[in-house]
Amino acid sequence: MPANGSYGSGRATPFKQAALESVAGHLIGSSCAVGRKWKRPVVVADMTCGPGVNPETGADGSPLILARHCSLTATRLKYGISFVYVDRDEVALESTRHELLQLIERRAIQGLVTCPRLNQTEAIAQIPSTAVGLAYWDPTRYNDLDLSVITSLSRQCTYMDILVTRECLAAKRMNCAGLDVTNLKEALEATGKKMLYAMKYAKWGWWSFGFASNWTKRGFQDWDFLDLNTEDGRHLLDDLDAS
Ligand SMILES: C[S@@+](CC[C@H](N)C(=O)[O-])C[C@H]1O[C@@H](n2cnc3c(N)ncnc32)[C@H](O)[C@@H]1O
Repeated sequence: MPANGSYGSGRATPFKQAALESVAGHLIGSSCAVGRKWKRPVVVADMTCGPGVNPETGADGSPLILARHCSLTATRLKYGISFVYVDRDEVALESTRHELLQLIERRAIQGLVTCPRLNQTEAIAQIPSTAVGLAYWDPTRYNDLDLSVITSLSRQCTYMDILVTRECLAAKRMNCAGLDVTNLKEALEATGKKMLYAMKYAKWGWWSFGFASNWTKRGFQDWDFLDLNTEDGRHLLDDLDAS
């Protein structure tokens, strides 16, 4: 059984996964299109993957959601994607590996090279510096998000975008440090990326995503991301961080 806390089990978890579903295809699709055009490796990394499925409900966790979108994109664009997934909990990592293998065997996902790792720093060292793609951090219920690891990814892989989740409403309501103390602004600034965005309360109000990218010419407003260098973006961030 994966460690309690390695998978979302709160009332808000389905909203987080639905929000991830709603952005993953766009973000992975645009990275892969650029990678194909520039003939660069495309890498998608789930840096805190958990066990892949919620053992209580059977609902897909982030690595399965991301892998499915990678597979759809790789098939549509006919360009391979490497999917790196990381968790320091061996049981959770093994569970994700098992779930992904089953999907690969059933040909439910295709066109991916998968790469499991226990350690985020080691995982980052495996990613080519020329890679284009997306790295996802979900530090929910962990208050030891190491911002220096995010910084090192963004330094080493300049063209990787970074997506970070933040639980908002529960943190606000209960003012509960320790549930999720990640300051979105701090996490985004640590990326050193040129463009920082936050998603308005991700559709159902429980979650927000921070998104950091170097792409100055792509707007993400259509997907509910606000540029933090705008007044609206700053207001949103104040609101999200006011727990
Ligand atoms: C909230 S759970 C992830 C849930 C998953 N994203 C999902 O949607 O199903 C966070 C996971 O991050 C892992 N984790 C926390 N800190 C980590 C670190 N520094 N390195 C690797 N894994 C870490 C924990 O073991 C846990 O499994």
